[in-house]
Amino acid sequence: MKVGNLVGLVGWRGMVGSVLMDRMQAEGDFALIEPVFFSTSNAGGAAPAQAKNETTLKDAFDIAALQRCDIIITAQGGDYTSDVFPKLRAAGWTGHWIDAASTLRMADDAVIVLDPVNLPVIQKALLQGGNNWIGGNCTVSCMLMGVGALYKAGLVEWMTTMTYQAASGGGAQHMRELLTQFGTLNAEVRPLLDDPKSAILEIDRKLLAKQQSLSSAETANFGVPLGGSLIPWIDKDLGVGKQPDEAGWGVSREEWKGGAETNKILGQGAGFGTAATPVDGFCVRVGAMRCHSQALTFKLRRDVPTADIEAMITADNEWVKVVPNNREATIKDLTPVAVTGTMSIPVGRIRKLAMGPEYLGAFTVGDQLLWGAAEPLRRMLRILLNA
Ligand code: HSE
Repeated sequence: MKVGNLVGLVGWRGMVGSVLMDRMQAEGDFALIEPVFFSTSNAGGAAPAQAKNETTLKDAFDIAALQRCDIIITAQGGDYTSDVFPKLRAAGWTGHWIDAASTLRMADDAVIVLDPVNLPVIQKALLQGGNNWIGGNCTVSCMLMGVGALYKAGLVEWMTTMTYQAASGGGAQHMRELLTQFGTLNAEVRPLLDDPKSAILEIDRKLLAKQQSLSSAETANFGVPLGGSLIPWIDKDLGVGKQPDEAGWGVSREEWKGGAETNKILGQGAGFGTAATPVDGFCVRVGAMRCHSQALTFKLRRDVPTADIEAMITADNEWVKVVPNNREATIKDLTPVAVTGTMSIPVGRIRKLAMGPEYLGAFTVGDQLLWGAAEPLRRMLRILLNA
């Protein structure tokens, strides 16, 4: 099967879209395609420098214009997908739709793409005529890039993930809000901070008073202060209507995605006629900028030596890197600050836990805009162009 190279790009100016454009530029993807740039607000304007023959922006709601494309990549968001995708398919378009939004992820005819982990699932779907390719939840994609080896080896009986998710997961405005709060809080106690003789508890009291009195405009995106705090709930409440003690009661949508998407990416569980691996935990927003971190607990199917686990993880793909489980290496290499802007997926703190030799702990960090969003999409584009 040969896929044409007229590629529509939608949402390329937003945060994920901009990272995608940078990565496509860095990897020479534009040399392989004829890009058509779409806009939801500026149709007729000038396309960016990567344009070749299609030098004006097309209307992103123009179904006929979209239909010309062999492939469409969108990072425009879920509302756009919900609006345009059904119309495009209803109009008879059979091209390839590559999407960063979660809207279509769990649809039966959609594959969640993360090819270093699930290339066989992608290839099988391609052979069967699949044409909906959706990027996974950032936390899930970064986690599987790190520890996918253990799943591939069939070693995982269950896993918990306790996350430390960055502001960027909410969007660009959330990052700005966090930084503005940091500035406001710092300004509030600045004179006391500058005075080495001031009492720390006075600083703390003043700071708390400011955090608790931030205006609704200052917390418009997260709803409550994040600077100097954390928020142990991400996305919608899916437990509503269920009974306490019922499975799924009180789960956040982000937590639900951990189990549902991990299994779908791996091609197992509901829809594949096989058992799902239980994956669950708590998702927490912290004051990091764009790296999601996760503490993982595995119940392994058997006792495997830690050195063998490390070797499997290291051998899995070219981006994962085992960080030795010591203080020095951990604080240097296993933080959002160390990882942001890189394709590296460090996995550290790998050790057996006190519960027994089949219980394994690990900690991993990933840039949620790179492996968590943009990279799986541009790699899917490459897979299609090579198909
Ligand atoms: N839902 C994620 C978050 C980001 O809020 O961090 C997108 O997958």
